[in-house]
Order: sequence, then C-alpha cells, then structure tokens
Amino acid sequence: MLAIEGLTVRYSSSTALNSVSLAIPPVSLFGLTGPNGAGKTTLFRTISGLVRAAVGSIKWEGRPLQALTPGEIVRLGVSQVPEGRHVFKSLSVADNLLLGCWDSQHKVNCRRNLERIWEVFPELQRLRTRKAGSLSGGEQQMLAIGRALMTDPKLLMIDELSLGLAPIVTDCILEYLRQLPRQGVTVLLVEQNLRLVLETCNEAAVLESGTVRAHGPTEVLRQTVGVETYLGLSPHEELS
Ligand SMILES: Nc1ncnc2c1ncn2[C@@H]1O[C@H](COP(=O)(O)OP(=O)(O)O)[C@@H](O)[C@H]1O
Ligand SMILES: [Mg+2]
Repeated sequence: MLAIEGLTVRYSSSTALNSVSLAIPPVSLFGLTGPNGAGKTTLFRTISGLVRAAVGSIKWEGRPLQALTPGEIVRLGVSQVPEGRHVFKSLSVADNLLLGCWDSQHKVNCRRNLERIWEVFPELQRLRTRKAGSLSGGEQQMLAIGRALMTDPKLLMIDELSLGLAPIVTDCILEYLRQLPRQGVTVLLVEQNLRLVLETCNEAAVLESGTVRAHGPTEVLRQTVGVETYLGLSPHEELS
C-alpha cells in the first residue's frame, strides 16, 4: 500500500500539489490522470524521491519515504519509468537492461530477470545487440519498462506510457501490465489519457490544478459523468 497524506509540493513561488491525499491499494493497477500541468509528474517524482514535499507524508508499506534518497527508494521495491523513457541511446538493448542491476541487491537476480524480460518482450531479445537509439518508440518503452523490472519492483510507476505510441503498441504493453498485480506487483500508471486509465485500471484518481478532483474504482468513475465535466471535456474527448 502506498499512502499519500496531505502532500504539498512547491516550485519556488508556485504550488504544484496542494494537500494531496491518496491511498493506492496493494497489487492493483492504479491510474493517476488529469490534464497537462495538473501535477501528475510532480507526484511521480516526489514518490521517487527526486522532488521534496513542503508538507505531508508518503508511506510505502508503512515506511516513510520522504527522508530517503532515490536509490534507497528503489531498494525498497519502488521503481519508475520516467516520461520520455530515457534509455541510453548509444548502448545496446542488453546493456540498457543490465544497467538496471546497478545495485548489489539487484545483481543477485540479474540473469533470471533478464530471461524473464526476454519472455515478456520477445522483441527485445531479438533486438538485444541493437543500439537503443535505433529502436522505435514502442520498443524503447518496452526497454524502459524492462529496465525497471530488473530491480524486482513491488511498485512499478510509469509516467505517460502511451505518449507517442501507436494504440496497438500501447495495448500490447498494457496486456502485460495487467498481469502484474497477479504476480504481486502494484502498478501506478500516470497518464494524461483519461480513457486509457478508465478502461485499464481498477482504481484511479483525477488530479486537476494540484488537487484530487475525483478518485475511486474506475467502474464507478466511468459512470460519473462528472469526471469529464470536471475537466471540461465531452465524454469521448481525450485530455490535452
Ligand atoms: N521543475 C519545475 N519548476 C517549476 N515549475 C514546475 C516544474 N515542474 C513542473 N512545474 C509546474 O508544476 C505544475 C505541475 O506540473 P507537472 O507535475 O509536470 O504536471 P503534469 O505532469 O500533470 O503535466 C505545472 O504548473 C508546471 O508548470
Ligand atoms: Mg507529466
């Protein structure tokens, strides 16, 4: 369980998150959505330890994260795929994955995890000697997810999975992510695409201007016409 309470984050004079409280249940597929500038990436980076909160707390399995470094947070099983993937373009696919085992804790299961990633994304095995910079956007996204999986995460967070990807590629990756809760992994999908979140996740929260405007099971949110109304959208429009 990831418990966020009263989280406020400021960048110099502007407030990006204003007293955000959220409970992300264990082994769920949880979506965090909202329009551009809502504070989604700020929340993602605060959980990762890259941004410090002014007020509030984040607890992962009961342990406060705020005082920890990003590396310590990864060692607790919280791993992330940042927006834009950030693969090492001049390195091969295999070397990018092996970089996921930067810590002695993760070196132990490195070989086993690599085999598992080849099984999950056979395309990556086929491309293992290719430079990451020569891969398509979808292949790079698989690689970034694969690299995060090398750390055996219990919480996998992905920022803007679908950005720039063909829907068929997004669907293929989502099909895999849907299996993770059954394997004991919690997935936090941070996505501007409201429809994708409502269709894919078990639970979701809608952020707007740094505050939580709606949250709950997606089957309930889907029926709440208010979600679109909150965001000033017609029901079939995507957020932009
Ligand atoms: N590094 C930064 N410095 C100053 N302001 C920032 C920074 N990053 C984000 N912001 C501001 O914080 C707000 C939330 O941004 P962000 O978390 O990136 O939203 P989202 O991911 O939902 O698009 C926006 O108003 C944005 O301009
Ligand atoms: Mg963002």
